[in-house]
Amino acid sequence: MRTNVAIIGGGPAGLLLSQILHRAGIDTIVLERHSREYVEGRIRAGVLEDGTQTLLRRAGIGERMDREGLVHEGFSITHREKSHHIDLTTLTGRKVMVYGQTEVTRDLYAARDTMGGIVLHGVEQVALHDLQSNKPHITFGHDGAVHRLDCDFIAGCDGFHGPSRESIPKKSRREFERVYPFGWLGILSKTAPVDEELVYAAHEDGFALCSMRNPRLSRYYIQCSSDEDIANWPDDRFWKTLRKRLPAELAERLETGPSIEKSIAPLRSYVCETMRYGRLFLAGDAAHIVPPTGAKGLNLAASDIHYLSEALIQWYGNADSSGIEGYAERALSRVWKTERFSWWMTSLLHNFPDHSPFEQRMQRAELDYLTESRAAMTTLAENYVGLPY
Ligand code: APR
Ligand code: PHB
Repeated sequence: MRTNVAIIGGGPAGLLLSQILHRAGIDTIVLERHSREYVEGRIRAGVLEDGTQTLLRRAGIGERMDREGLVHEGFSITHREKSHHIDLTTLTGRKVMVYGQTEVTRDLYAARDTMGGIVLHGVEQVALHDLQSNKPHITFGHDGAVHRLDCDFIAGCDGFHGPSRESIPKKSRREFERVYPFGWLGILSKTAPVDEELVYAAHEDGFALCSMRNPRLSRYYIQCSSDEDIANWPDDRFWKTLRKRLPAELAERLETGPSIEKSIAPLRSYVCETMRYGRLFLAGDAAHIVPPTGAKGLNLAASDIHYLSEALIQWYGNADSSGIEGYAERALSRVWKTERFSWWMTSLLHNFPDHSPFEQRMQRAELDYLTESRAAMTTLAENYVGLPY
């Protein structure tokens, strides 16, 4: 087999890259370990920055998002029984879109089908070769046979546990990591969202988030300890804990019901420097992880793909290699700023079990300052709607 750009990983990063390149006349083959049903069924975050929205529209997959997505002009932060509104549109002139990553992934698969894009599911033992040459290749197992895929470039879009990053020799990469001493327990329920907008609740017992997917589908999270066993969290206990973390006025309005999905996610910040090794490029979760506070994971994958697709289109269109050579630096500059924001928002809103009383007061003072200062709220808002590409 031969293609221009071999893409490892059929999550949002890999599919979006293949969609944009295909529209520019560049061939791709996507290799995905899991089945399509599995990939399309994963529940992830659901807030799209306006830059992500524009990118999806330009890639020809914005139609259902614009029809079914919920445009949000702000959100609330609650703290000590009070609710503070962050008016994104007044502060920045921009808006976000609440539209689940699950839906973005389905739209991407539908678009790849329409264009006849090749996505191989159920591939095994993916291995990357000759990354420093002009003719890299991949070997993998599929349908009981071993295959070889020759290409010009490899895009490693295979998430945090994929083989791409590990194919960069240890001496050529540097890793930066923070693991937070807590996780998020999330549920999906067929109930009306408690509020029209998202609510980020900072409570002394721990953080909570009220989000949504549509007017009859809610997504809620509560901070839990990192070693929590989901078996100890029947729905009743979840709702009771959530209610306690919301101001009374919101707690009274909370509609509860059976959960249709329940999962625990650890919280981590992680960056791999570099994001390019010869003819291998990393994008999305393969290169970096953010804690979910602020919903930047998918948005960061999208901005990587923006830089990478531009670089490859430049190379194939004008034999210009400057985009490729500058990819890691350009992408990482935005990655680090977004890492900072996700870390800051996580630090601001969660209960840190190891914090001293002094640190607790600092956190409270920062929340008070934030909700009283237009300058501070503007900083939050400009990062939340997304920094420019
Ligand atoms: N071979 C082939 N595919 C693989 C392999 C492998 N060895 N290892 C992992 N993959 C696939 C995974 O099955 C997954 O479908 O790579 C894909 C990576 O997708 P994601 O994990 O969704 O990562 P990404 O596309 O970078 O999207 C980033 O999605 O994961 C969320 O929180 C993340 O919101 C962020 C966004
Ligand atoms: C979600 O809806 O899943 C979500 C929303 C906002 C966040 C994180 C997750 O900050």
